[in-house]
Amino acid sequence: MAGIWRGRLAVTAAALGLGLAVAAGGALAQSAGADAVKARQANFKQLGGAFKTINDQLKAGAPDMAAIKAAASRMQALAARAPDWFPAGSGPEAGVKTGAKPEIWSDAAGFATAARGLQAATASLSAAANGGDPAAVRAQVAATGAACKACHDKYRAKSS
Ligand code: HEC
Repeated sequence: MAGIWRGRLAVTAAALGLGLAVAAGGALAQSAGADAVKARQANFKQLGGAFKTINDQLKAGAPDMAAIKAAASRMQALAARAPDWFPAGSGPEAGVKTGAKPEIWSDAAGFATAARGLQAATASLSAAANGGDPAAVRAQVAATGAACKACHDKYRAKSS
């Protein structure tokens, strides 16, 4: 009898231990997801900040072309890395506030197309900035804004 009880206790303890390990693994995955959300939002803030620099300069009487060039190049570099900002587990399941919709992962091909749209637009923006003609930059700013909007409309929650 005593032997059976000891056996049951051992099994129960093992099952409990496993449960705790799984829970800890889940918490770890969740905190990695939350970290990815925070890093992504910081990157988008930089992207938005660089875009604002360009827009502000274009409104100025004499746009600072060097500042525009630097900001466009920064945007192009950020856009190149943007697809990496969405690891699995960094959606709403990460447990922190995020505007990333589940469609980013369920419609990965469509999302990749939207990300490539941003890469193409920022490459053209950077080329126009290097050319030094504010009118050409202005045209590419409009195209870039459209690329931001195309993705936000489909893949970013309205409330974020
Ligand atoms: C391929 C899709 C995609 C493109 C293209 C895109 N965004 Fe976003 N953006 C998102 C998603 C998704 C979020 C929500 C991120 C989150 O909350 O986790 C976001 C969030 C943001 C945020 C809010 C960041 C914060 O503080 O939480 C800003 C600002 C932003 N984007 C600016 C831009 C600008 C400017 C462009 C174009 C130059 C752009 N985005 C292009 C998908 C995109």
